[in-house]
Amino acid sequence: MNPQDDPALHDPTNVHDTYGHEVRPAAFLAPDLAVRSDASDFVEMPDVSTVPPQHEPLPVWLYVVCGIALFFAGSSYAGLELGEGYYDQGMGGPAVSHEDVAQAAAPTDPMSLGKQLYQGNCANCHQASGAGQPGSYPPMVGSEYVLGNKEMLAAILLDGVQGPLTVKGGQYGTNVMPAWANLSDEKLADIMTYIRKAWGNGGDEVKPADVTAVRTKDASRSSPWVSSDLDKMKSAK
Ligand code: HEC
Repeated sequence: MNPQDDPALHDPTNVHDTYGHEVRPAAFLAPDLAVRSDASDFVEMPDVSTVPPQHEPLPVWLYVVCGIALFFAGSSYAGLELGEGYYDQGMGGPAVSHEDVAQAAAPTDPMSLGKQLYQGNCANCHQASGAGQPGSYPPMVGSEYVLGNKEMLAAILLDGVQGPLTVKGGQYGTNVMPAWANLSDEKLADIMTYIRKAWGNGGDEVKPADVTAVRTKDASRSSPWVSSDLDKMKSAK
């Protein structure tokens, strides 16, 4: 028999006793017995929270850091970094060898060569400006030893000099400047030309042969010159 046809179902007075176990599934058939909040067996179910588990939103700085990292990764991949010259090395690009660059950049005139040699060997003490340091390193600018006769200057560089010296009216201590004889006559001539002409010094050029002559003449000397030696050379010419 179809349960809907059961007359008992339609009798609200006994349906509970007869079909108690079916009351809820069959409630649509007996609206009066549908779940009611005032029923004696009604149990209110606690509300289940629908708030999802807490997810911290990603901090803004993380987006920024990732953005910057991606930018640099991308730009270096694309060869956009400054100074790398990626595009110059492509197939068919101009092949500039390092030798060509060195030859083009290397100066040949005595003043440029002398300046490089001075800055590499002398500027530590006498300064790039040629001003020296008061009390310890005498100046090149306006110095009577630099601008005096070339033989004296060549002798100072070939054998060194021991203070005290008076240069341009200033007193310098007992420091010793070691000899520069390990530099070639050409290099020493370039240095001498440079310090005699630079900084408005107004001296004249020194030739390698001038240095060679002094090197030969003083070949037996092995100690630095002192002030009294230089005084004799000053007046020699
Ligand atoms: C380590 C320091 C030092 C270096 C480097 C040096 N000198 Fe000197 N130089 C001295 C000292 C010290 C004196 C003597 C000063 C004294 O009376 O004590 C001197 C004296 C001189 C003098 C005579 C005094 C004058 O001022 O005119 C000349 C010229 C000179 N040096 C040139 C050179 C040149 C050129 C070079 C490079 C090739 C050079 N010096 C490198 C320390 C140095």
